[in-house]
Amino acid sequence: MKTEEIEDLPKDIRTGKKIISVYGIGFVGTAITSVWLRAGATVIAVDKNNKIVNSINDKKIANTEPKAKEAFIEAVNNKKLFGTRNIKLAAKKSQIKIVSVPVGIKNHIADLSNVYSVIDDITINLNRNDIIIMTPTVPIGTSNQLIKRMESKTKMKVNEDFFYIYSPERIAIGQAIADIENNYPAIISGVGKKSLKIAKKIFGMISSKNPIVMTSTKAAEAEKLIEGLYRDVNIALVNQIAILCEKEGIDIWEIRNAANSQPFSNLHKAGIGVGGYCIPIYPHLLLQTAKNRGINLNLASISREINEAMPAHCVNRILKELKQTNKKKKAAILGLAFRGDIPDKRLSPTYDLVNELLANDIKVTVHDPFFDNDSLLPKSVKVTKNLKKAIRNVDIIIVATNHNQYNKLNDEFVVKNSKAKTIVFDGRGILNRKNFTKIKLITIGQKND
Ligand SMILES: NC(=O)c1ccc[n+]([C@@H]2O[C@H](COP(=O)([O-])OP(=O)(O)OC[C@H]3O[C@@H](n4cnc5c(N)ncnc54)[C@H](O)[C@@H]3O)[C@@H](O)[C@H]2O)c1
Repeated sequence: MKTEEIEDLPKDIRTGKKIISVYGIGFVGTAITSVWLRAGATVIAVDKNNKIVNSINDKKIANTEPKAKEAFIEAVNNKKLFGTRNIKLAAKKSQIKIVSVPVGIKNHIADLSNVYSVIDDITINLNRNDIIIMTPTVPIGTSNQLIKRMESKTKMKVNEDFFYIYSPERIAIGQAIADIENNYPAIISGVGKKSLKIAKKIFGMISSKNPIVMTSTKAAEAEKLIEGLYRDVNIALVNQIAILCEKEGIDIWEIRNAANSQPFSNLHKAGIGVGGYCIPIYPHLLLQTAKNRGINLNLASISREINEAMPAHCVNRILKELKQTNKKKKAAILGLAFRGDIPDKRLSPTYDLVNELLANDIKVTVHDPFFDNDSLLPKSVKVTKNLKKAIRNVDIIIVATNHNQYNKLNDEFVVKNSKAKTIVFDGRGILNRKNFTKIKLITIGQKND
């Protein structure tokens, strides 16, 4: 690609001379597609799920990311967006290919099958000067392997015949478009000077922040993984101290507040478990690389163990509170989403809580404002959006997610809609102790009353 062509990229993208295809229209792909549409690009949205593709073309996208629906509908109306399942066709028709398919994990090893399958389909129709932007979080060295594979299949050379950029997405669901456009600088890396020049030009179109340019794709891959590991380790530290506080009769929330008044302390929050498709997975991706290099990354594995043990720890506390009688006990778990106010339940700790409670012969109902069914939960577990119904006649209410709706929970509401002796377990530290004078409130990281 000549220098003038690189300079012309923003214009060519806006006029539709260069078309963008996005592969994987999930949480991340929806946000990426939206920001490119908002920047004036023409986008082919590719997903293997027919429902998603149809919802795009029928202007009925279910994704609730703020501003996404408007961007999609306007673009379909203006013929600047269409959805398809045909990866090869999309690759043929577009010059800039953005990959945002998920990376899974099987037996603690990264499952890159989605990434490889998309890259292989793109490779079949790779043209000279095409630009590939990879965004999923991947083990260190993945980009190098992908590039080798593409080069050997096409006999083309990266940075000469095609361009490869790795830019890990750093968004949080619910504010994803704002995150890309304004909140954080993009992390960009590429192979060769031209790829980087192209990356800077392109990312300048969608972000108000100057990107952080990494010296290698490996460094960019590691950066994203370490962001996740930092959070997992930090949460594990607070969780472990929270357990100590429970025994010691001191309060992790008071201690955390005081500690964080000092600028070098940024203690995260204790909690009933860590979920989602990022934090619980990324340490394993780093551990995989460390193992291959013969490095003992035990801080990562210990932190994972601590965080994975939190649901069982909380259920053990709960069991001690529930008086043993012949009657089967009932529990309501508030929250299936792994984080507050988002409709994302992937790897939610609620699944572990449910299993622990069922194993102890406790009947479980789950409440969540975003879900009224869930195929991953055992059939005996009802999921409802109706809070009053969920807590009716239960012995224990467990707050598992920091949904805003739960903050104002108080003993009056519980007594009226559940039982006079219902116990409340706050697994997120969001309830106000002053609101619980009539019934027992147990909070993670605090001693029981
Ligand atoms: N969710 C987050 O908050 C977040 C944040 C930062 C980074 N990430 C990274 O982004 C990746 C994607 O995450 P997500 O939350 O958007 O996942 P997602 O599950 O919401 O969406 C992925 C989409 O890709 C589609 N897909 C899967 N395989 C495909 C294939 N072979 N061809 C075409 N489409 C395919 C799926 O049908 C789905 O619609 C994650 O693996 C993670 O590395 C996620």
